[in-house]
Amino acid sequence: MYSGAMPKLIIANWKSNKTEASVKEWFAGFDATKVPAEAKVIIAPSFHLLSETRRNLPDNLALCAQDVSPFPMGSYTGEVNAQQLKAAEVNFVLLGHSERRRYFHETHADVAAKISEAITNTLVPVLCLDRDYIKAQAAALSVKDVVNLVVAYEPVAAIGTGNNASAGEVEEAIKEIKAVFGNVPVIYGGSVDEQSVREYLMITDGVLVGGASLDPHAFQKVVAGAQT
Ligand code: PGA
Repeated sequence: MYSGAMPKLIIANWKSNKTEASVKEWFAGFDATKVPAEAKVIIAPSFHLLSETRRNLPDNLALCAQDVSPFPMGSYTGEVNAQQLKAAEVNFVLLGHSERRRYFHETHADVAAKISEAITNTLVPVLCLDRDYIKAQAAALSVKDVVNLVVAYEPVAAIGTGNNASAGEVEEAIKEIKAVFGNVPVIYGGSVDEQSVREYLMITDGVLVGGASLDPHAFQKVVAGAQT
């Protein structure tokens, strides 16, 4: 499990972007030897790009999926399950991202079922939360599930808008999250870029980066911000 004393988690959430060819190009432009020891860089591509990303992934980086099936292996057409992700050498999985809640109508119960599947298969869930449903999402989880988890504080108004949350707001949200989930690692996501990353890393266990992760050079600068 990750704690504040460990490297900061810097997760590149590529969302529904890139192709096999552009994954290769991205890695050609990203210098993993320059990742500071203070950072753990994690790449989250679409499902169909996991194996191409794994092929290109330097040893000091880790792999993350953007979602997982709420069901185990079986007759669930179109789903990718946690056992399959584990076999594909995935380490982390984003769950309950606000875009999934908004466009795919994921409920707290859906997210809880996905977390159970992830934990059963020893994937680390990165549970994305906005402030107004911290308690409701926690209430939907079983006690067992709450132990092994990273929480990403992701204010919807800050995602993809350039309106990144203030450090004070993030600190308040972290307090609320820890009051409910205990001392879990908490990262921040929402318009993080090379300018804002240092401020967030001083008060969080890491960052979830969307737009600024798509270009390898821009992301390299975000990652450099972990150097103390
Ligand atoms: P953004 O996305 O950095 O483009 O705001 C963050 C996220 O949705 O995880």
